Amino acid sequence: MNRKVSVAPMMDCTDRHERYFLRLISKNTLLYTEMVVDEAINRGDKKKLLEFNIEEKPVALQLGGSSPKLLASATKIGEDFGYDEINLNLGCPSRKVEKNKFGACLMKEPNLVADCLTEMKAATKLPVTIKTRIGYDNVEDYENFHNFISILKKVGITTFIIHARKAMLGKFTPKQNLNIPPLKYDYVYKLKQDFPDDEIIINGGITSVKEIKTHLEKTDGVMIGRAAYHTPYLLADIEREIFNNENVPSRQDVIEQLIPYVKSELKKGTRLNQIMRHTLGLFHGQSGASFWKRYLSENMCVRDADVKKIDHIMDKVKFNNFDRSVGTSA
Ligand SMILES: Cc1cc2nc3c(=O)[nH]c(=O)nc-3n(C[C@H](O)[C@H](O)[C@H](O)COP(=O)(O)O)c2cc1C
Repeated sequence: MNRKVSVAPMMDCTDRHERYFLRLISKNTLLYTEMVVDEAINRGDKKKLLEFNIEEKPVALQLGGSSPKLLASATKIGEDFGYDEINLNLGCPSRKVEKNKFGACLMKEPNLVADCLTEMKAATKLPVTIKTRIGYDNVEDYENFHNFISILKKVGITTFIIHARKAMLGKFTPKQNLNIPPLKYDYVYKLKQDFPDDEIIINGGITSVKEIKTHLEKTDGVMIGRAAYHTPYLLADIEREIFNNENVPSRQDVIEQLIPYVKSELKKGTRLNQIMRHTLGLFHGQSGASFWKRYLSENMCVRDADVKKIDHIMDKVKFNNFDRSVGTSA
């Protein structure tokens, strides 16, 4: 599996529609689902939670949980649905998540995590990976981080995705926890030096191809979160410059290729805004970006969006009209 560049799991963002859209831009990045809780998979509507379009592949399923039994069962179900990797979330710091004992608070219980991973690995032939932080609260020394990873290595984990900042459990909001604790990339670089045979993926605050190239000199892969969501066409630069793929669609091509998907999803009962909201940032940095956002917000990202509008969207997107529209709406 190529984990050189991946798109991070993000709740309310990396759903199946976002992944389908991103896959139109990038053939080579690995895409992650939002975190799905083990119990929901075991007891809930599996199809609704897990079904995806084969075009999205390769896709990794991220699980949240701390019950070895439930996680193992969710892992098996994920494998049966066709995912390419199962990832355990050990990095989410939200209060709700902590109350239910999953996410970053599990860094306090490495032996329980090891038990969970042992059962997950026994339940599948797929790679089982983890995503974690470098520490939590006042526990932020490299030794502790190294020990945590060592315990997980002992049960056969070989791919570690590291969000290079600590989690402040219960103190910060999830948003603060994504911004306030400082990034310590040197922890991740050192981990790679200490465990040269393992796959170490770095995450946190990475927003450009230049930065990706720098990190790839010292780690095995880079995971991009917010930048991929807010400026999705960054993935086109990644295709060209990291994967040497010159066959990248233009922004207009992406929308054109999205239309048949939108139409088939609408027939299944998906609402227009559930898909189009993910495209808001597609024209970021281009002339016309604000027009595109406004056009979507007013016409397609509203709850009862008029589905007929999708037939006319290319009129808006084609360069001339797009620019003219920008001109008139300025
Ligand atoms: C809206 C949002 C939702 C997130 N949801 C998850 C999640 O479900 N699982 C997870 O491991 N991390 C989650 N994260 C954290 C990201 O995966 C990533 O680690 C973090 O955003 C740092 O990377 P970035 O600076 O490239 O965005 C979320 C982040 C955001 C912004």
